[in-house]
Amino acid sequence: MLIELKKTTKIYNQRRPNEVTALYDVSLTVAPQTMVCLQGASGSGKSTLLAIIGCVLPPTSGRASIAGKQLSRMPDRFLTKHRRETIGFIFQQFNLLPRLSVLDNITLPLLPLGISPNERKARARKLMDQLSISHRENFPAGQISGGEMQRVAIARALINNQPIILADEPTAHLDSRLSMEFMQIMADLKTAGKTIIIASHDALVAEHPAIDRIIHIKDGRLDVP
Ligand SMILES: Nc1ncnc2c1ncn2[C@@H]1O[C@H](COP(=O)(O)OP(=O)(O)OP(=O)(O)O)[C@@H](O)[C@H]1O
Ligand SMILES: [Mg+2]
Repeated sequence: MLIELKKTTKIYNQRRPNEVTALYDVSLTVAPQTMVCLQGASGSGKSTLLAIIGCVLPPTSGRASIAGKQLSRMPDRFLTKHRRETIGFIFQQFNLLPRLSVLDNITLPLLPLGISPNERKARARKLMDQLSISHRENFPAGQISGGEMQRVAIARALINNQPIILADEPTAHLDSRLSMEFMQIMADLKTAGKTIIIASHDALVAEHPAIDRIIHIKDGRLDVP
C-alpha cells in the first residue's frame, strides 16, 4: 500500500495543560492511483491527518508507512527528505510568494535538491504548458488571477514528480467554475497515476465522479467504510 496508517495517534502538547488529541487510533490504507475526499467538521483532525500522511508531523504513537517508509521514529531530516520526494501539497491560500515570478514559485521546491537551473526551467515549462499558464511565466505570482494562482500551486506541488498529492480545502477560494476546473486537473493527474487526498467541505469535490472514496473524520476518529 502506498499509504498505510495503523492505530496512529497524534497528540499536540503532550503532558501539558493544553494537550489535544487530534487523531486517535486512526487506521487507514490508500491504494495507489485513487482519489479520496476527506470530510469532517472544523477541528475534527483533517489537516492533522494530512500533515501525518504528508510527512510534516511524525505520529505520537502507532505506525504510519508512506511510500514504503515507516515515519515513526524517523529523524526530522529524513522526514523532510522523504516528504520532498513523495508528497506534493496544495493549500487553501495557495501559499505563493507574491513578488517572485510564476516560474520561480514553481521551481522553489527544487532548490534544496541541487537540480541545475536548466533542468528546473525545463520541468517547470512542461508543467506550465500542461496547466495552460505558460503565458504568465514571468509575471509576479501576486499579479495573476485566482485560478492562475491555483494552477501555479498545482505545478509547484508536481514539480518533483511526487506520487502523492495532498490538498487542504483547495477550492475554498474558488468559484464553482474554477473548482470544477481544479477537479478536472486532479482527475487527469489520477489517470496519470497519482494518488490524491483532498480535505474538503465542498460538495463539488465530494460528488465529483473521479472521487473513489469519501472518508469521514469525527473528533479525530475515522469512520472508514
Ligand atoms: N499545532 C497545534 N497545536 C495544538 N493543537 C492543534 C494544533 N493544530 C491543530 N490543533 C488542534 O487539533 C485539532 C484538530 O485540528 P485540525 O487542524 O487537524 O482540524 P481540521 O479538521 O483541519 O479543522 P478545519 O476544518 O478548521 O481546518 C483541533 O482541536 C485543533 O485545535
Ligand atoms: Mg484544516
